[in-house]
Parts: sequence; structure tokens; C-alpha cells
Amino acid sequence: MEDIDTALTGPNPMMLLGGGNPAKIPAVQQRFRDAMLALLEDGQRFEQMTGNYDGARGNSRFLRALAKMLKDQCGWAITPENIAITNGSQTSFYVLFHLFAGPSADTSGRKILLPMVPEYIGYTDVGIGEDLFRAQKPLIETLGDHEFKYRIDFDAIKLSPEIGAIAISRPGNPTGNVSSDDEIRRLRGLAKESNVPLILDCAYGDPFPGIVFPEIATEWDKDTIICLSLSKLGLPGVRTGIIIADKEIIQAVSGANAIMSLAPASFGPSLVTHMVEDGSILDMSRTVIRPYYENKSALAQDWIREAMGSLPCRIHRSEGAIFLWLWFEALPITSEELYQRLKTRGVLVVAGEHFFPGLNAPWVHRQECIRVSYALNPDHLQRGIKIIAEEVARAYAG
Ligand SMILES: Cc1ncc(COP(=O)(O)O)c(C=O)c1O
Repeated sequence: MEDIDTALTGPNPMMLLGGGNPAKIPAVQQRFRDAMLALLEDGQRFEQMTGNYDGARGNSRFLRALAKMLKDQCGWAITPENIAITNGSQTSFYVLFHLFAGPSADTSGRKILLPMVPEYIGYTDVGIGEDLFRAQKPLIETLGDHEFKYRIDFDAIKLSPEIGAIAISRPGNPTGNVSSDDEIRRLRGLAKESNVPLILDCAYGDPFPGIVFPEIATEWDKDTIICLSLSKLGLPGVRTGIIIADKEIIQAVSGANAIMSLAPASFGPSLVTHMVEDGSILDMSRTVIRPYYENKSALAQDWIREAMGSLPCRIHRSEGAIFLWLWFEALPITSEELYQRLKTRGVLVVAGEHFFPGLNAPWVHRQECIRVSYALNPDHLQRGIKIIAEEVARAYAG
């Protein structure tokens, strides 16, 4: 985060291919601008939004509208009591991981099982005082000459009483992998067998912002916790996370909200309430946001294939999210060293080795990958890709 801030505000322009900022899509930004103007002109709404604390679960009009939309449009059997707002998904995970992992009376310390790493870097240091994760390496399927895909290695997953919850990002960060409906059903089955919840991190969709390219159906039941966010719609600055879960869990989240911040921020929910009430948040996700990223991903992959030529570079199949995950098999330097070399040339990516929370065993693969965001400036992306290819070629040449 420091690197990104320095790159955005420092004197030397950097090619920002590292951070998690979403694209600034003009049609989407215009809708938020219109929503802001409408909010300012709508009677006392602005004064209510800025002058009152919401309840500890969040703004009640927003909760009602969201519950209705998710019930009507996604078939989730929920009421507003199944939803809590937080100050961003990162806060949601902080609360949830500490609810379901950490020291407990019956075990020495429960863990969150990550059934497939690489996984979201933001989970890594969430645990206060101890390592909260157990992680499972994936199966690697190579696809043609230039692609690959991770799959959950169900045979290797070992559940034990120390596991307090199973968590997975879908679409996955850093890889853009979207676990299939069948894989999610199997994970749900494993979670039920162990009487623990399945936490689905849907920060990139489904149902919004919909940065998911294959057709999938996300199902909710009382043993599933779904985490959504307004960030990747284009609103990371408003810091709004959404948790959908069994009422008892929501009560615990609401208690944590009250302790940590009295109430979650009102701005994000107030800004998008109308878009949830009329369902346009879903239309915008399907008809504007998803095609925008799908096209950009395809273009970025073309540029990568062209720049890499015959170098041993594989791209993880891009099924969603805003990143491409590149694997350079048998890379003679670590991904951290590659990151440093690229930084000196003005290109910021993220070294792959940081995306393996909970995986303590050595695995050379983690040092052979980098994460590249394709969300921002296309000119920087194209130039950055060329520089990545030059540095990778230099590394292979020794
Ligand atoms: C998979 C995933 N989950 C959660 C988050 C955190 O999102 P938020 O901005 O809502 O805290 C991110 C942010 O990049 C993410 O990539």
C-alpha cells in the first residue's frame, strides 16, 4: 500500500500495475456522480447521512433494499437481519477470522482453512498475535502453450477440529480464478461435515460488481457467509463492506462494529441505496463493468503473449477480478528480486511469494509468479508489460 501511495503521489511517475484500485470507468463514474447530486438535492438526506450515526449493522434503508434485491434477483432466502455493513471487506475479514479462529476453550488455536493458495494478500496479517491460517496447495493444470489454471486439490484437504472456517476468494485474487459451482458445492459439503461456515469472498462479484467472466450461480444458505464490497464497483474510497450470514453471526459482527467504530460509515450505503432499490447496480455490473474488464483482460493477454515471445510465461486463465497472474517456470531469480528490478525501471507489480498465507512448506512455484493489474492506464500497462518481458528475459539469460 505504501508503494502504491508513493507511486500515486510521489514526484516520479510509476507504471502502476501492482495495486488493487479498480478502473475508473467513465459511464460508472457518471452514475456515481449523478447519485451524489441526487442525494444532495433529496430533502434532508445529506444532513441525515452526515449528521446521524447509523445502527451498528448499518443503514436500515440500505439493508432493507439490499435484502429485497438479493432475495428477488439471486433467490437468497434472507431478510435485512442477515446483513451487516462494515468499513470495507478488509474489516469484514478481520472480524470474521477472529470470530472463527484464534484461541478457543477446546483447541489450542483454531485456524481458517484456505483450500487453495495463492490467495488474497490482505488475509496474511489479519491475525492478531498468531498465524490464523492452514493452506492447501492447488493442482496445476496446464492449458495449451501459454495458459494454466489452479484447481482445488480435494484429495489433499484435511479437516480437523482445529479448523474454524473455510474461506476462499471467488473470483480469486491474485489469480482471477473462479472456482466452479461444483467446487463450491463440494467445499460447502466439507464445511457442513465439520460444522463450520464457508466464507466466500466475493469482492469482485457475483452478484456485484460482476467481474466474473464464466456464468456462475452463487448460492447462499445459513452455513455460508458471503462478503461483498462496494470497492471494485469503483468506490474503494467510501470503505463499504457487506456481510451476509446467519442472524447469530450478524449479531456478532454488529457487536464488533459497535466496539470498533460505534457504527459503520453511512456514505457508501447512502450513495448507492437508489441503485439497489431499482436494481440498476446489477444491470450496471452485467452490462458495463463486466464487459469492460473482460475486454481489457483479453487485450492485456494479447500484449503479454506478444511481448513474452518464446519466454516460458504462462498466464493463469483469466476468469474474473482485475489481475493477471503470470508464471515463469524455473525463473532463475525470485519474484521478489524481479519485483525490485522492475521497481527500479518504474514498473510496480506484486511479487507472487506474498500470496501464500498459511503455506509454511517451501514451494518454488510461489517465487516464480507475479501479479499484474490490468485495471489502470492502458498505456502504462502496455509499456509495463514490455519492461517486464525485458527483465524476465534478462533473468533467464543470467
Ligand atoms: C479478494 C479481495 N477481498 C477483499 C478485498 C478488500 O476490499 P475492501 O476494499 O472492501 O476492503 C480485496 C481488495 O483488493 C480483495 O482483492
